[in-house]
Amino acid sequence: MKTSYVHGYSPREAERLLDQAQTLTELLHCDTHYPNGSTVLEAGCGIGAQTITLAQNSPKAQITSIDFSPASLAQAEERVCAAGIQNVTFRQADIHALPFADNSFDHVFVCFVLEHLPEPARALASLHRVLRPGGSITVIEGDHGSAYFSPDSAAARRTIACLVKIQRQMGGDALIGRRCYPLLVNAGFEGVTISPRMVYVDASHPALVEGFTKQTFTAMVEGVRDAALGLGMISETDWDQGIADLYRTCEPDGTFCYTLFKGVGIKPKE
Ligand SMILES: C[S@@+](CC[C@H](N)C(=O)[O-])C[C@H]1O[C@@H](n2cnc3c(N)ncnc32)[C@H](O)[C@@H]1O
Repeated sequence: MKTSYVHGYSPREAERLLDQAQTLTELLHCDTHYPNGSTVLEAGCGIGAQTITLAQNSPKAQITSIDFSPASLAQAEERVCAAGIQNVTFRQADIHALPFADNSFDHVFVCFVLEHLPEPARALASLHRVLRPGGSITVIEGDHGSAYFSPDSAAARRTIACLVKIQRQMGGDALIGRRCYPLLVNAGFEGVTISPRMVYVDASHPALVEGFTKQTFTAMVEGVRDAALGLGMISETDWDQGIADLYRTCEPDGTFCYTLFKGVGIKPKE
């Protein structure tokens, strides 16, 4: 099944995914370590931006990373090989039709994927099927409604709203972070815990100014410029003002906040 994907597969988007992963490595991965010999399914690995960290943090786990984009998988494989990582196998697959037996993985990891799916509950049901009883699922999602910044700007908020609306029109939900708990519980996972992870950026964290506010968040919003203008959602002047205002938060007196949601749940033992 082909699912539309709001951010597309351009070289700039690939670079953005890498910046995002590198900038957020510690915040998102610090508490994810899989035991030696365990099997892990990474669903929607993209170009392997998270795969490298997953594999390096759990060097003795066997990781299977799937995505439905062959081009992204090829990049992921190249990146993982270049890093000398040997505990990852790549496979093209749709999350909704996984080519794996029931109960075949000890753990499942899914990051920045559910937000793009029209039926995240169906995807979670599919992931639940391939997870063994007692195994864990880890889900990481953003929520663009959690973005606030100084100086505040109505124009900047409008550009973000355009991305949220376009993603919704494509069947996704850019506000899914706040829904991770009910989605996991309703999918049948138990002991679900959600830990919100705030990225707070000011001039005393130049790496975050560059890697998060500019290269991750603003680059992501800028990516829907043509679609937003083409759909008549916003005027070119207002768009340019909004983007300029997002960059304005990167000045020495600016600040930026965003919250990611990391959820973990367990498949009940029968
Ligand atoms: C935003 S990227 C995230 C990639 C990676 N997890 C990361 O954090 O860098 C979302 C990925 O999900 C993949 N994807 C979307 N729907 C999918 C589906 N139904 N089955 C498999 N992969 C899917 C896309 O091809 C894309 O590579």
